[in-house]
Amino acid sequence: MSTAAFPNLTVVDHPLVQHKLTRLRDRTTGTRNFKALVSELAMLMAYEATQDLPLEEVDVETPLERTVGKDLAGKKLALVPILRAGLGMVDGITQLVPHARVGHIGLYRDHDTLEPVDYYFKIPGSEEDRLFLVLDPMLATGGSGVQAVQALKDAGAARIRLLCLVAAPAGVRRMFQHHPDVRIFTAALDRALNAQGYILPGLGDAGDRLFGTR
Ligand code: PRP
Ligand code: URA
Repeated sequence: MSTAAFPNLTVVDHPLVQHKLTRLRDRTTGTRNFKALVSELAMLMAYEATQDLPLEEVDVETPLERTVGKDLAGKKLALVPILRAGLGMVDGITQLVPHARVGHIGLYRDHDTLEPVDYYFKIPGSEEDRLFLVLDPMLATGGSGVQAVQALKDAGAARIRLLCLVAAPAGVRRMFQHHPDVRIFTAALDRALNAQGYILPGLGDAGDRLFGTR
């Protein structure tokens, strides 16, 4: 589902995604299940976000005869989790796409300014035709997403998508202002942000719930 108000956004409203997202939001969901749900949701989101990957015809021999099948073509996909919470989305997607390369972008939000502070950047070679999937469960003010995408572009990446699980309208708008070419896939577009920059209704602090910190 995409909306006219947010031309850069696709909300994945598949029943399995919506069911798992509700379990993820639930405050009684513990670390172990939270981790499993983030991983499963990431896999389902990646399925949607890779619908237009290029294919090439290849010969294949079945037990009965020779035929023509299709293989993925072009440069290997790159997954780029934003640390920490984005890490929880990597395993699920690599089950779908085992040959994907993985980069890492380290950012944390300053508690007072809510602006991202960067501490790490390492990505696979940025060939122009490689598709980069930036992974982060939460798109709140959009500061982290905008900065991560800018860092990728500065390193030469030209095809970038952002996969999150919960997005706030402010974050989607900020991404569109800075990077209108980047499509965003989310499981939910939530209502608003609170004074501390948390998404409402949201799911709380994704990194803390994923890694059992706090
Ligand atoms: C969270 C989340 C995003 C960011 C979203 O990370 O995982 O990276 O906040 O907020 P924004 O859209 O307002 O930038 P956090 O800074 O809490 O770091 P952590 O994952 O290490 O806990
Ligand atoms: N980061 C989170 O982990 N949760 C929010 O609601 C906003 C930013």
